[in-house]
Formats: sequence, C-alpha cells, structure tokens
Amino acid sequence: MARGLPKLLGVVGAGQMGAGIAQVAATCGLQVVLVDRAASQLERAAEGMRASLARLAAKGRLPGGADPDAVLARLQPATELEALAAADYVVEAVPEREALKADVFRALDSLAPPHAVLASNTSSISITRLAAATARPDRVVGLHFMNPVPVMGLIELVRGMQTSDETFEATQRLATHLGKTTCVSLDRPGFIVNRILMPMINEAFFALMEGVGTAHDIDTGMKLGTNQPMGPLTLADFIGLDTCLSIMRVLHDNLGDDKYRPCPLLIQYVDAGWLGKKSGRGVYSYSS
Ligand code: 3HC
Repeated sequence: MARGLPKLLGVVGAGQMGAGIAQVAATCGLQVVLVDRAASQLERAAEGMRASLARLAAKGRLPGGADPDAVLARLQPATELEALAAADYVVEAVPEREALKADVFRALDSLAPPHAVLASNTSSISITRLAAATARPDRVVGLHFMNPVPVMGLIELVRGMQTSDETFEATQRLATHLGKTTCVSLDRPGFIVNRILMPMINEAFFALMEGVGTAHDIDTGMKLGTNQPMGPLTLADFIGLDTCLSIMRVLHDNLGDDKYRPCPLLIQYVDAGWLGKKSGRGVYSYSS
C-alpha cells in the first residue's frame, strides 16, 4: 500500500452503497475496481456516479477540484471477483444477508493477496463472525459508510474480536483520506448508528400502524420538531425498507428485547415488495 493507502481498492457490490464508496475512493485519487455479478447493475451504478459527480462538480464540491472524467477513468467495472486478485484493500457492500456476505468473504479470502484487508460495509452483522469465515481474521474490519456516501461525513469503524492494530490503523488512514470523520464502535448488533436510528424508524412504523398520525404528520413532526433533514418514514424509504427490516431483525435476534421487535406494518410493506424509493413505492409513492 502506497503511503499506507491501497494502491488498488476493490469494492464488491454496485448497489447504492457500493457505487457511492467506489465513487468517493476514485474521487480521492485511488484506483478502484467495482465488482458486481450483474453487468446491468454496473451500468446503473455508472449512470448514478456520473450524475452524482456532475452535481458535486457544479457546486465546486469535488475535493481538490477533481475532474469527473478523471474520477471515472480511475474506476474499472468487473463482473468477476477474480478482478480483485491484485487488490490491497477490499470493501464488501453486498445486500445485508449474513450467508451471502460470508460467502463473499470466503471467496475474497481465497482470491485476494495475503496482505489485503477485507472490510465489510455491513450495517449490523457481526464482523467477528464474517472474519471467522476467512483464514485472515486479523485483516477483517467493519467500514460502515452512510447513505448517500458522497454527501455524508461519517464512517463507523468496527473492530472484530481478532482485528489487528495494523488493520485498524490502515482502515482509519483510509477513512481519513476519503475525507470522512470516524466513530468507533464495538462489534455489537447494529453498532452505534443503526442501534439508535433503526428503533426510531421502527417506532415511526408502529405510530403509523396505530394511526397516531398520518405518514406526513409523523414525518413533519420529527423533521421540524427535532431538526432532522428527513422524517423517519421518508428516511426509511430512502434507505430501503428491506434493509431497515434486516437490521431490526439482527437487533431483535441478538439483543432479544421486545423494544427491537420489527413492526408488523414494516414487515408487510416488505412482503408486498414496497421497498421504498428504489422500488418506486414504500410508505410514499415515487412513480411520478
Ligand atoms: N451525490 C451528490 N450529491 C448529492 C447526492 C448524491 N448522491 N445526494 C444529495 N446530494 C446533494 C445535493 O446536490 C444537495 O447539495 P446542496 O446542498 O449543495 O444543494 C444536497 O446533497 C442536498 O440534496 P437535496 O437538496 O437533493 O435534498 P435534501 O436537502 O433533502 O438532502 C440528503 C438530501 C443529503 C440525503 C438529506 O436529506 C439527508 O441528509 N438526509 C438524511 C440522510 C441520512 O440520515 N443518512 C444516513 C442513513 S443511515 C445509513 O446510511 C446507515 C445504513 O447502514 C442504513
């Protein structure tokens, strides 16, 4: 790794988080390989990154006045994990399902160079357990970005039980290089941010289900009443209701307490395929 930074950064998963991470890393001068099995997802990610870079460039908000074309030239898309054979640092950002993430970690462990760090962008799953799927648990760490990655200032760093000091320091250096402030969490369900945020979102669904207020009133109350950029139901649609439900299930399964019980209305929305902004319908409709 040059100057303690990766010469080649791999990102696995080109959804909204993976694409955002790849974009920010390339904006900050790193060479990036973005891997997704689905070529169509890579194309969508490229479109999103172009739009996001144009928005940031128009406002003069690209660090060091980076040129969007030069940023995009540092990004190489790939449909096979084998493209990461020379990566020094890999960030996994596949959907929030433990079995899927563990499979990706096993595959990365056999493909990536022995010195490479394997980081997970998981929102809530145990880093210690993901590390145990590899033969390099000392080089596994949690690197949890916030959505939208290019705009949000935080990365949550999570140390697994076996994460080495060297891995943790390399990760802290990378986060700083990406222009983000960090908070450090123990490897506990939901870490810090989602342990606190998701019960609020879940409670907003209970309030909606019980008719305490309309979606609009709940969101207006919380947005203006507590000075948040978005009300909790709008934010849930923005994050993805399936992601919110997965995180609530991790909290409930691992912490046990009834206060983490996923709201039946949230479950029903997900069962209906109303996943939020990305599916065109969640609490609100986005079809127009
Ligand atoms: N790329 C580039 N710029 C973007 C962008 C993107 N993807 N998304 C938004 N922006 C920019 C806009 O251009 C705009 O810039 P400006 O202030 O200079 O005009 C600014 O961000 C605000 O955007 P908009 O005017 O379009 O809309 P909003 O004012 O509603 O802001 C928001 C959008 C930044 C998303 C804001 O509503 C917000 O901060 N919402 C809360 C987000 C949040 O809480 N995220 C964390 C979720 S939890 C999480 O991610 C953890 C995970 O594990 C679940």
